Amino acid sequence: MGSVRPLVGVVMGSTSDWETMKHADELLTRFGVAHECRVMSAHRSPRLTAEWAASAEKRGLAVIIAAAGGAAHLAGVLASHTVLPVLGVPMESVSLKGLDSLLSTVQMPAGVPVGTLGIGKAGAVNAALLAVAILAVTDPKLRAKLRKFRAGQEKAVRSQTLP
Ligand code: RP5
Repeated sequence: MGSVRPLVGVVMGSTSDWETMKHADELLTRFGVAHECRVMSAHRSPRLTAEWAASAEKRGLAVIIAAAGGAAHLAGVLASHTVLPVLGVPMESVSLKGLDSLLSTVQMPAGVPVGTLGIGKAGAVNAALLAVAILAVTDPKLRAKLRKFRAGQEKAVRSQTLP
């Protein structure tokens, strides 16, 4: 988002995750939250991953969203290098439909938390909404946008009819 310093880092293990994670990108854009989207892998690019996470705080990031599939250790590895909140999004995998990604993201041993969302698109959208909610704690304008978003959802449900 231009030269504005990103507040949220959206990281994914592979370009193949983008089809899902573009929904987090879209949501953050809709809320006007400055963010950056990056591909890095805990196992394919371990040094890049460690360097990026270790420098995230001093670069001004406030929340990290991390998406990975399979043996999905990206969120946990990022969390081990920073005290910023890390939100994990398990990617739907071909072999196990994302159950592997979910369990390996959510089951962090005590001491280094990863706030884990649901598998796939819903998790991507909710991770972005949770990042917005975290930022909104100290940003009244963003909180107002979040309330408006929720009100819009309620209005849509109230107007729904069945055939
Ligand atoms: C993980 O392996 C990625 O996050 C992705 O979900 C999965 C498959 O990656 P590719 O083989 O498509 O690059 O590291």
